[in-house]
Amino acid sequence: METPILTKSGNLTESRRKFIEKAGASLIISTLGAAFFTSCVSSDDTNPNNSNPPGNSSSGIVISGTTITIDLTIQTGLNTSGAWLLIQNATTLVANVNGSFVALTAVCTHSGCSDNWTFSNSRFTCTCHGSVFDPSGRVLNGPATSPLTQYTARVSNNTLTITR
Ligand code: FES
Repeated sequence: METPILTKSGNLTESRRKFIEKAGASLIISTLGAAFFTSCVSSDDTNPNNSNPPGNSSSGIVISGTTITIDLTIQTGLNTSGAWLLIQNATTLVANVNGSFVALTAVCTHSGCSDNWTFSNSRFTCTCHGSVFDPSGRVLNGPATSPLTQYTARVSNNTLTITR
């Protein structure tokens, strides 16, 4: 049986209630898993940078070994600056920063949280303890002291390829 790809996106907290209303709780549980419900509430609800997220679907995302490919004709929301995605299965953060894609490990260098991220104003925040990183992974605020590993992210023919 194929393992479903689990993702979170920029409007996760905003979408929770709407998602439940539209899709029903059983669909969310089956497609996103319990981790969806364990994430921290973020301040992204009001952040205009997160107004065009790629959505919570994993459609168009393929993980193969150390490579992740994202079909940008399916994950169309990622084409907008400020959109972002957490690919939970691959512990990888992806964001569109002013038209350029960045990809980073989602494993926080503070104490290893990988599932509780927000992205706003071109900053990733690990909400486990509040560490903040810039799009290249550098620490802007602790408690983390080491940068996040940055991955190669290239676009060709509407396909974003991330090499970890
Ligand atoms: S694990 Fe990320 S801030 Fe502590």
